[in-house]
Amino acid sequence: MTDIALPGRSAGSAPAASAKALTKTYGTGDTQVHALRDVSVEFERGEFTAIMGPSGSGKSTLMHCLAGLDSATSGTVTIGDTELTNLTDKQMTGLRRDRIGFVFQSFNLVPTLTALENITLPLDIAGREPDQQWLDTVVDRLGLRDRLDHRPSELSGGQQQRVACARALAGRPDIVFGDEPTGNLDSRSSGEVLGILRAAADEFDQTVVIVTHDPRAASFADRVVFLADGAVIDHLANPTAETVLDRMKQLETV
Ligand SMILES: Nc1ncnc2c1ncn2[C@@H]1O[C@H](COP(=O)(O)OP(=O)(O)OP(=O)(O)O)[C@@H](O)[C@H]1O
Ligand SMILES: [Mg+2]
Repeated sequence: MTDIALPGRSAGSAPAASAKALTKTYGTGDTQVHALRDVSVEFERGEFTAIMGPSGSGKSTLMHCLAGLDSATSGTVTIGDTELTNLTDKQMTGLRRDRIGFVFQSFNLVPTLTALENITLPLDIAGREPDQQWLDTVVDRLGLRDRLDHRPSELSGGQQQRVACARALAGRPDIVFGDEPTGNLDSRSSGEVLGILRAAADEFDQTVVIVTHDPRAASFADRVVFLADGAVIDHLANPTAETVLDRMKQLETV
């Protein structure tokens, strides 16, 4: 296996990503929503974390702030040794392009491009050649080989979701965020997506953070971070589907 040297990839021991005292407030007065309240969390290199919590608890908001897609009201986000609040728009775009992969809750595929063109789009924009061997691995492991020439409208929801995963992984970014990346998948496809995310962490030292409502999906992770009402309320290490389900029940009764 040959590892490609990515620009700006730091070798230090700083966490791959972290949020410190992150607050995100929407609106003012009576209509104010506290989407995040003082969230501090760290993600180590090569670690696979699942974020869980009820609908509206702030999971997508946290992921968007961590990935530099949204800015917080207060607090800081750091990717490697780079603090995002210090970056210009252009630097932010470069960092997202070179170091971050994102699987959106709504896929965000480009309708006029084929599956393969969607997958390699971020690399094309960055002017980078795909690592063909890695690209083949991703395509095959996600079962997309015979769908590469199809446009998103010719793909099922699950296939579109897998294309979105392949796109996030293709450039082998330092950190991959997935907002319910298995939300539309049957258990076999879901296993394929989670398997490749697990491999990204284990074999390539990539940091993986996903949002999920599914205890089985969470069991692929090294730990689970539970959010409720915009705050981190619990952590669980080495989760199994059973321990996650137990913890979810406990948290519901609190
Ligand atoms: N642009 C916005 N304007 C106002 N409120 C918002 C906005 N975006 C999100 N919110 C609110 O912030 C809170 C957190 O939303 P978020 O999307 O992070 O939840 P979530 O945990 O991802 O939920 P789900 O599981 O349903 O995806 C919710 O109460 C939501 O209504
Ligand atoms: Mg969400």
